[in-house]
Amino acid sequence: MPNSVVVGAQWGDEGKAKVIDYLTDKSDVIIRYQGGANAGHTVIADGRKFVFHLVPSGIIFPGKICVIGNGVVLDPEEFLKELDELNGKGIDHTGRLFISDTAHLVLPLHRLLDAAQESSAKSGGKIGTTGRGIGPAYSDKINRCGLRVGDLRNWDYFASRVTEAFAAKKRMVEEICGCSFDLTLDDLLKRMKIARDRLLPIIADTNDLVHSELAKGSNLLFEGAQGTFLDVDHGTYPFVTSSSTIAGGACTGSGVGPSAIDHVIGIVKVYTTRVGNGPFPTELNDATGERLRSVGGEFGATTGRPRRCGWFDGVLLKKAVRLNGFTRLALTKLDVFSGFEEIKVCTSYEIDGKLVDVMPSYTTDIEKAKPVYETLKGWTEDITACRRFEDLPANAIAFVKRVQQLCCDVPILIVSVGPDRVQTMEVTPL
Ligand code: GDP
Ligand code: IMO
Ligand code: MG
Repeated sequence: MPNSVVVGAQWGDEGKAKVIDYLTDKSDVIIRYQGGANAGHTVIADGRKFVFHLVPSGIIFPGKICVIGNGVVLDPEEFLKELDELNGKGIDHTGRLFISDTAHLVLPLHRLLDAAQESSAKSGGKIGTTGRGIGPAYSDKINRCGLRVGDLRNWDYFASRVTEAFAAKKRMVEEICGCSFDLTLDDLLKRMKIARDRLLPIIADTNDLVHSELAKGSNLLFEGAQGTFLDVDHGTYPFVTSSSTIAGGACTGSGVGPSAIDHVIGIVKVYTTRVGNGPFPTELNDATGERLRSVGGEFGATTGRPRRCGWFDGVLLKKAVRLNGFTRLALTKLDVFSGFEEIKVCTSYEIDGKLVDVMPSYTTDIEKAKPVYETLKGWTEDITACRRFEDLPANAIAFVKRVQQLCCDVPILIVSVGPDRVQTMEVTPL
């Protein structure tokens, strides 16, 4: 098994965790490299459902090493809650789960600021964040005033830095955003002390760990969070998250060079969804959009918000192939289209009277895009029990092939026809 990065090709929730789960068996180390508890990654295996926010989804496989890399922002309380839930389901992480000492911390202060910034933003300026403190934590990191996981090792130092941060964030929430700040320094320090005692044994120099594993010939699997168009540089800014969600983020977020990566697997939902605000050219605000939402179960795994739904967008995907250098595609949710008489795919945008077939980089241009569609024939058969690509209905095969063409003919690793681990068909193995 080569070293592979799994990346969401759209705006998140493409089914990344299902594909990670599919690949974990043949991997040795699974590494989350960016984002934080804004992620919601669902795995359904052996009749059990797991939703991961910070812990790499590979943890459900006994013996696999799981790493939370330096590029992640870690909310200690969310993380421990997740570990407790996993323990409750019989998943033991002892000795095989590690957090990078250089990952930044998300404190309750960051969550309060995230909520205050959203509530005080003017109506067109609200991002629609998950409220998990992601933007404020990454801002502190870039502004060189963040607190890192390794800072927990020295409690006195940590406590003095938290005390400074408390005063600064309180001022921002109250005086700049005009919101209430329901937290005391005492309470914050008490909560962090409890978390610290549990975290200390699993804090590590994960860069050293990852390189030792590479030297041994272990197979690495990088678990991306969010999706390509939520990338802080290449996404629909400012309606993005605050990290590098594209494949390159796997290098900076774990400390390996690009030459260590053999495969980049783009997870592509066969329609499009987005949670939160921002442009979405193929969005359907009609009964078809509603049908995709209800049949596809399109409700956020982290916040429960209904996801905005629309047709597959080939213009978006062509850009995603460029940004990530996909070597394989994993197509998910094909089953959702069973019973659709017709299925549309967007092949170009009309912007200011001109046709474009690659998504432009500037958000105001994307806002003006009018999608141009091609219509394909649907199929009536339930395909959720199908396990071989060639057994799919002819119209489903034709649809998949057209989607692949619109994705620059990148080979397809798998096609997914249901949420369960077994509802997967392999097409072109790694
Ligand atoms: P992630 O954030 O990319 O890991 O994706 P989420 O877990 O947020 O959302 C994907 C949802 O679709 C989850 O509820 C999965 O169980 C489900 N899912 C994944 N693949 C398929 C599929 O092929 N068909 C159907 N019907 N559901 C799927
Ligand atoms: P997974 O890993 C879908 C979206 C939010 C909002 C924007 C910024 O499950 O695919 P943030 O809280 O990050 O500052 O919010 O990004 N967002 C996601 N949308 N899936 C996710 O993660 C997301 N994580 C953040 O809805 O629009
Ligand atoms: Mg998700």
